[in-house]
Amino acid sequence: MSRGRFITFEGGEGTGKSTQVALLVDRLGARGRDVIRTREPGGSPGGEAIRSLVVSGSADRWSARTELLLMFAARSDHLERTIRPALEAGQWVVCDRFADSSRAYQGLAGGAETAFVEALDAHVVGTNQPDLTLIFDLPAEVGLERALARAQGDTRFESKGLAFHQNLRRAFQTIARAHPERCRLIDATGSIDDVQARVWAAVEPVLE
Ligand code: TMP
Repeated sequence: MSRGRFITFEGGEGTGKSTQVALLVDRLGARGRDVIRTREPGGSPGGEAIRSLVVSGSADRWSARTELLLMFAARSDHLERTIRPALEAGQWVVCDRFADSSRAYQGLAGGAETAFVEALDAHVVGTNQPDLTLIFDLPAEVGLERALARAQGDTRFESKGLAFHQNLRRAFQTIARAHPERCRLIDATGSIDDVQARVWAAVEPVLE
């Protein structure tokens, strides 16, 4: 049995990523792929337990380094319990956020050292790098406004302020340039259909 494909969606708050994850999962299913949808932080019982620690509370509840360790602890469990078994069983895995969110939020925008982030990635993710990463790009003001309008309860990351979110957008653009072999920057402006067409244009080559 051939190994499945691993596709990750990344970007700032309110970029429309989760809507597009759902649409892509449906479309891949319609094309006959056995596909699972998952998310980070979370995606396994242990990962979800860690998620509740990181998405709630005050903005400064955790330092960037501690937050990074929590994110990678959640990721380690998620890879062990959900992602690797699915890929080995030939399933496609579509994941809403993955290690590039740690590179951007805790690393480039949060201030955790790049060498520390990359060392964790090498140990925890290793050879399980995504086959394709779609990075949703949108002006920070637009995304933050959307995210705050729909927020219910947990807004720890949304509350970090506009300057943080502007840095975050630049961080994701930098990551896309640094990993051209797997990353595609997706213009997240326009209608849901417009963005879906851009997503599909990026995914179709991986179907072969
Ligand atoms: P979500 O709102 O997209 O579900 O993600 C929850 C928050 O977690 C989001 O604000 C981004 C943040 N996050 C990180 O800071 N680092 C990470 O590694 C991941 C996966 C998410």
